[in-house]
Amino acid sequence: MTEIVKASNVSMKFKGVDALNNVSLDVAPGEQVALLGHNGAGKTTLFRLILGFIQPTAGSILIAGFTPGSDAARRTVSYLPEQVAFPKMLTGREVVRFYAKLKGAALEDVQSVLEKVELVEAADRRVDTYSKGMRQRLGLAQALVGKPDLLLLDEPTSGLDPLSRQHFYELIADVARQGGSVLLSSHGLSELEAKTDRVAILRKGQLVANGPLADLQHEANLPIRIRVKAAANAVDKVHAEIGGGRINGASMELFCDRGDKMHILSRISALGTQVEDVDVAAPTLDEVYRYFSRIGAEEAPQRAL
Ligand SMILES: Nc1ncnc2c1ncn2[C@@H]1O[C@H](COP(=O)(O)OP(=O)(O)OP(=O)(O)O)[C@@H](O)[C@H]1O
Ligand SMILES: [Mg+2]
Repeated sequence: MTEIVKASNVSMKFKGVDALNNVSLDVAPGEQVALLGHNGAGKTTLFRLILGFIQPTAGSILIAGFTPGSDAARRTVSYLPEQVAFPKMLTGREVVRFYAKLKGAALEDVQSVLEKVELVEAADRRVDTYSKGMRQRLGLAQALVGKPDLLLLDEPTSGLDPLSRQHFYELIADVARQGGSVLLSSHGLSELEAKTDRVAILRKGQLVANGPLADLQHEANLPIRIRVKAAANAVDKVHAEIGGGRINGASMELFCDRGDKMHILSRISALGTQVEDVDVAAPTLDEVYRYFSRIGAEEAPQRAL
């Protein structure tokens, strides 16, 4: 099977800046991959390389087996840039029609993508009357027209409200169901839960993680937080038994490895009525992302017990 994107040991140096350093990343047909990283991590640079706008300093990229920027590769890829701008005087329908013509797509496609992104009612209004969310949906419409094999979406959900984000992810899931591949960039893991097949994290130009979300959570092996609220007359006894930091007078908080969780919980449960309540919290996706981005790694909570 030919990978839609095959980036092998790609480095990109600008004057004095290592934007990408030895990055290898593949995207298979029908796969949805999220590319994460802080500002300046190299996400847009990777997109520009895939599009053939710039050439790598080292390594190679193939798009469905073709050289980026070649006619065959360009027919494969659609792009929604980070900052989407359309001529204000055009209507939404005119914008999508323009892109359909550029791509040689059937004009009937225009109506169906406008329906998909829910812009039919506003389609004959000028783009300068659109809200930010509507402009972003129009950007997605121009990317969807012509049914590309690969959608490259650079921070497509930034500025969208939660409902629009959800709708947006439904649309790209639809693309993947029909065999299209999606590579999208984003700043956070939390909005991606169960929405992509794989997550790749760039940190200062290096690929520091690449795998399904569940694998990354496992790999990060971040501590689990357990909060125990002791009965009013047993606070000191409970604290002596389980340790941890004291919070709010009657509660204590401790952190443990995933593998120790059940053992600790059984010790807590053995304290019977001396314990009033227990709350167990797995690491959040934001914590997993921070771990891989190495932000706050130094202040990771100490494991207890
Ligand atoms: N044409 C260029 N000339 C010099 N440096 C560049 C150029 N393009 C990108 N860079 C640098 O390469 C690094 C990666 O930039 P890039 O735009 O790929 O980051 P990004 O992950 O998309 O960030 P953001 O989340 O802010 O969009 C940055 O340090 C940026 O300043
Ligand atoms: Mg960018």
